[in-house]
Formats: sequence, structure tokens, C-alpha cells
Amino acid sequence: MCGIIGCIGEAAAQPFLIEGLGRLEYRGYDSAGVAIWNGKEIETRKSIGRVSRLAEALNESPLDGDTGISHTRWATHGAVTEENAHPHFDASGRLALVHNGVLENHKALRDGLLGRGHTFVSQTDTEVLAHLIGEAFDCAPVQDRDALVAAVRYALGQAMGTYGIGLLHADTGRFLIAARKGSPLIVGFGDGRQFLSSDVDAIADWVDEVIYLEDGDIAALDGDTYEVHRVSGGEATPPAPVKVEAPPTREGRGRYAHYMHKEIHEQPETLREVMKGRLDHEGGTAVFSGLQRTNEELREWHRIVLTGCGTTYHAALAGESLIEALARIPVECEYASEFRYRNVPLDSRTAVFAMSQSGETADTIAALRESKRKGAPTLGICNNVISTIARESEGGVGLRAGLEIGVAATKTFTSQVVALAMLGLLLGRIRDLPHCEGMDIIRGLESLPELVAQTLELDEEISRIAAKYISARNFLFMGRQANFSIALEGALKMKEISYIPASGYPSAELKHGVIALVNEETPSIFLAPQDGVYEKNLSNIEEVKARKGPVIAVGTEGDETLASLCDDVILLPQVPDFLAPVLNVIPLQLFAYHTAVALGCDVDKPKNLAKSVTVE
Ligand code: F6R
Repeated sequence: MCGIIGCIGEAAAQPFLIEGLGRLEYRGYDSAGVAIWNGKEIETRKSIGRVSRLAEALNESPLDGDTGISHTRWATHGAVTEENAHPHFDASGRLALVHNGVLENHKALRDGLLGRGHTFVSQTDTEVLAHLIGEAFDCAPVQDRDALVAAVRYALGQAMGTYGIGLLHADTGRFLIAARKGSPLIVGFGDGRQFLSSDVDAIADWVDEVIYLEDGDIAALDGDTYEVHRVSGGEATPPAPVKVEAPPTREGRGRYAHYMHKEIHEQPETLREVMKGRLDHEGGTAVFSGLQRTNEELREWHRIVLTGCGTTYHAALAGESLIEALARIPVECEYASEFRYRNVPLDSRTAVFAMSQSGETADTIAALRESKRKGAPTLGICNNVISTIARESEGGVGLRAGLEIGVAATKTFTSQVVALAMLGLLLGRIRDLPHCEGMDIIRGLESLPELVAQTLELDEEISRIAAKYISARNFLFMGRQANFSIALEGALKMKEISYIPASGYPSAELKHGVIALVNEETPSIFLAPQDGVYEKNLSNIEEVKARKGPVIAVGTEGDETLASLCDDVILLPQVPDFLAPVLNVIPLQLFAYHTAVALGCDVDKPKNLAKSVTVE
């Protein structure tokens, strides 16, 4: 995780470093810092917490200079303290370094440096790297730019793990170095300025072209020209510059107090967008030009693996049932974080879909690369279509949900599930699914935005119900079949924004252990639409009620049986069974949101989290 911005050019660096850093805050917001070369030496400012606090500190005491680096941190090594905030310095205090990633052998490197008389002010792996580079530089016969590149190459040659780094040295003045392995880093070129950044969007307003550094590249920038070297030795042919497209506009929160609330309410529109131009009435099917596959090629697939993390993994679980039901192809869902450490059987007829809102999740990128290595066709399902996953996969599906700023994923979850439903429809129609059933699916999909809009009208009612349970210290979420994935997602939303422990289970698992947790203080939230397993869910609800557990049920409009059995009910419009998960997640998003607001939690930026998880 962590976000890096570097700037070198004709104008003062500070405004670019701070504004760009604000746009990278989704990568972490534990602390932030900046270092700028003032023509003689490097000055730094750091602060705990958000970039806005660093900006306040800089307003009071600005830094002057046209060459600098900045960083917003998500803590990996060392607590959230000012000492551990980046940039970090070498022993001379003349080299400043920012780092995104994890150095796995930092302990051995630190011990070596301690043995050679170095002392450290932080617990970070980054400071170790700064000292290692600084030591090599100081040993060079001449302290010039070539020597700094050589020192970086030497130190990175010893580093194990992942890094995206930016650094400058007071002795080499107007000169920035960037290097990457496993963590994204981009070099951008604008009007009289060069930039480093963890992503394109953060600098898109100021640059015309960018190059995406490859693993093992070291870029050296002097404000006008640049060179790319390899950690392994020699110069590299710089990657071809790519024109930058305008970033998605960052609209405000409008009438909503939080981005999360706004994004929940955007779902009718985002669902329309993900389906736009992709439903083919004549063929009773779906069309995805981005898959870049003919029907003959798609028919070759005999197995599908969906991989992702967190909320995205839950969308994959919901999609598994949909694709299997519609296309009769076996689907497996794999946590991307586990993928490369398991020996997942893969072959050229098993399509791997790397699913990621951000397209930058380190574990999902690793799963994608592992799948490629094993010869599987790799596809991406991303919201950010200029991301690493979108670039590295052979084809894919863009979610078109617009920027999601709230750290808790909401609108992108429902777009992912609908994208998978359409994929199931397409794969089904080129196999056994008849046209009339395809048309039923299309009609169901097209009805969704309006049904979601109707569900969102329950917002205030859900807020009132949530208020009744804010003293709960534990929540259980239960659902069957595809609604089990929604139970997991409801529990995750509750945990991440309200910090209340919550867990999701298949309803029938209750009696195999979970029932031990049922008591008067522990609310159970049941997903109990009037589907094929409705009666089974009613029995499970009875079992909880028999033990005095409060029950909140999400059911179908007009269901009086459910209403009479449960303490509270949230009744949703009738929807075809296979699309119920898309509707059912909405009240759970709202329930978690209103609980977190009532508890005074920072909904859009929950503690310890980041929007994009770019470390393993
Ligand atoms: C939870 C949440 C995370 C992400 C996960 C994967 O609300 O947002 O669990 O879903 O970190 O992120 P992406 O989809 O960007 O790969």
C-alpha cells in the first residue's frame, strides 16, 4: 500500500506533492510526509493521520524547492508514529527515500548495518533501505548522479520483497530516482515537469504522457530528460510512453454526508452502466467485446476460476452460483491471497478471472501472474480499467461504476455480481441455455435498476432499525445458496466500518456450532426471500427465536409470516431468485452504514484500512 508522489521541474514542488498525495490517500492514511531539496539541503515535514494535516503543517511552514518526494503511509513495519512516517533518511541525513512495499529481508539487512555502526530512528524496513543506499553512495569515489544510480542498483540487488521507491540526495540536487519491483510506479511528463506516482490518476491533470516502469527498472530523472537502468545491470530500453486520458471526475458528496452513502444510492445508475450495450435481445444473450474471444474459443473453456479479495471475493462467490446455474460450467472461487501458495490445477481450458475494483490489489495481481505462468487464459474484471490487472490480463470486463471513494466497497460489488450474471448468460447461451430462458434473464437484469431504486427508498426505515441495535456487541448474518455470499458481505461491511464483530454463515450451519453464540444480546440477520429454500430459512429463524435471539430478516414484500416471526423485517420487491443477492445486499450496506454513523465512526475512512491493498 502507501502512495508515492515525486516532482521535479520548473515550478515549486510542494503544491504538486500535496495535491497528488491527497489523490493517493485511498492507498493509506496512517501518516504522511514530504521532503524537498531547497538548493542546498533536503527539508522534511511529517504528520500523523491524513494528508490534510500535513497540508496544514506546510501552510504554517512551507518548503521551498522544485525537487521533492512525498508519501502517504499504510503501516506495515512499525507503529503509526511520526518517526515511522516517510520520507526516511540515510545516515548522512542527505538522502531521502519514500517506499511502497515490504522488504522481506529487512531484519538481516538492518543487523548488518547495525554491525557497521548505523543507528536508526524508526522501526521501518524503508529506513534500512535508505541507509543501505546512502552507505554505498558514500563509498563511491565521486558522489555524483552515476554513483547514486549505482548505489540504488547495489542496494536493490540485496533487497528481497517488493518495492516502489522514490529518492533524492542533496549532493545530486535536481535529480530524482524511482525504482520498482512488485509495487506500481509510473513516471509522467508534463509541461516543464516530470513526476513519479503510484498511479496515473493522481498526476493525470499535469502530464500528457506516462511510462509504466517494469519490475527491475530504475528511472533517473533530471527534470528535462530521463534514463531507465536495470537493477540487474545496464541500461534498459525505456517502456514506450502512453498518452494519458482524462481521469474520471471526482464529484463531491452532494447531499450525502458520506461518500459511502452516496455510492450506495448510485447503484441503480451503476447497474445500468455495467449492462449498457451488453444485452443482446435478438440473441437472448450478453456481449462482451472486451473478452476478445470468439464463441468457438469461449466454448473451449471447461472450467472457470474466479479470484479476488475481500468484498470482491464475495462477489465471486455470488457469481459462482450464477455461472454454474446458467452455463453449467464448474466454477471455483479462490482467495487471491491464497492462490499462489496453493497448487491450483490450471490448464489452457481453465479461464482465470482476476477480479478487482482497483485493479491494483497485490494478491490479485500475483494470482493473475501465477495463472499466466501456468498457461491459463487470464481475464480481468476491474472498475479501474487503466490498472495493472486490466493491462496484464488478456481481456476482460470493465465495471464502469465510476470512482468509488468510500473505502468500503458498495456499488462496485453489485456491478461485479451483475457482470458475472451476464458472463453466465453469455456462456450459457453458447452451450445449452435456450433463447427463451436467455430472454427471461435479460428481463430480470433489466428490471434490476428500478428494483434497487425501490429498495433504496427503505433507507430511513433501515436507519431506524439499525438504531435499535447499536448496543449489540456481535452480529450474525445468515443466508443460503448465493445469499450466503451476501451474509458474508453484510458481516464484512459491519466489521469494517462500525468495528462490531460480525460473521456470516450458511443458515443451516447454525446448528453445527454457531447456535452457541445465540442469546438475547446477539442479533441475527437472516436473508430469507421467498425462494426455493424459504421454508428452510423459516425453520432456522425459529431455532434462533427459541433461544431468545433477536432476528432481523430481509424478505419479500407482503411476507406476513416473516413479519410475525421476526423482531424486525426489511421487505424488498419480488425479484427472480438468481438476482436476489444483488437486491439483498443493499439493506445490509445501509444497515452497516447507519450503525457506523450512529456510533460516530469515520465511515469513509475506517481505521487501519485502505482502499487499495498493494502489499501482500
Ligand atoms: C471491503 C473492501 C475490500 C476490497 C478488497 C479487494 O469493503 O473494499 O475488502 O474488496 O481489498 O479490493 P479490490 O477489489 O480493489 O481488489
